[in-house]
Amino acid sequence: MGYIIAIAGKGGTGKTTIAALIARLIKEKKLGSVLAIDADPNSNLAVNLGIEPGQTIGGIIDDIARHPDKIPAGMTKDRFVEYQVHTAISEGNGFDVLTMGRPEGPGCYCYVNNVLRGAMAKLIADYDYIVIDNEAGLEHLSRRTTRSADALVVISDVTPVGLRSAARISDLVRELEIKTKNNLLLINRYAGNIEKEKLSAFNLDYNLDYIGNIPPDSQIEKVSLNGNSLMDLKEDAAALVALRKLGDRIWQK
Ligand SMILES: Nc1ncnc2c1ncn2[C@@H]1O[C@H](COP(=O)(O)OP(=O)(O)O)[C@@H](O)[C@H]1O
Ligand SMILES: [Mg+2]
Repeated sequence: MGYIIAIAGKGGTGKTTIAALIARLIKEKKLGSVLAIDADPNSNLAVNLGIEPGQTIGGIIDDIARHPDKIPAGMTKDRFVEYQVHTAISEGNGFDVLTMGRPEGPGCYCYVNNVLRGAMAKLIADYDYIVIDNEAGLEHLSRRTTRSADALVVISDVTPVGLRSAARISDLVRELEIKTKNNLLLINRYAGNIEKEKLSAFNLDYNLDYIGNIPPDSQIEKVSLNGNSLMDLKEDAAALVALRKLGDRIWQK
């Protein structure tokens, strides 16, 4: 059964960047196979991983709902959805990527969603690690296609507003009854040490374990400006070095 790492946080905190770097480091450490799931329609995880994105799951759902006649004779709908999900996976150098997208059409997708849940469960069992780049509102986790995570990593800046939003996400996880084992807080784009006391001074009930911070990284800025992949970062990029040090808390089974 794959070890699920769910990345969460408000927009712009660095979810996609850190999801991509985690996938890269799991590969670097040869810990096993990785499926990166882009579950944020506003994101572009595949591009950040240097991979051509495939068809989205949302697109597949739309297609099957609109054209049920496309299901080949002799094939059950369940098998067809499963097959389509497999064709949506893009294979990269060391990890695969699946882009969830979102169904566009009107109508009820209950049946397809049910089948999708089964297909996703099978898929998750096929990999050693699954890294999910989530939407701020955790729509993917709440839609019940994936209802649990071994490690929840909430990304935040170090401002009171940012941390309050991290605390809200941790509340949301509890409200949605998403089962998570390790609930972690990772501060992004802050150089230097942050004392735990400084975080507790905000007096928030995070229910999250603070694991450390990732510094601002000029290499990431450059790569991002040029629209390049985070696979182009040099091994000594500041963010990569920091994550390499504290990442065991994220990916250790
Ligand atoms: N540690 C960092 N140093 C420099 N730039 C960063 C860092 N983390 C993220 N960024 C940049 O911040 C912007 C938002 O990051 P992104 O990962 O897209 O956030 P999110 O997925 O949470 O919306 C991107 O332009 C990204 O390149
Ligand atoms: Mg993103």
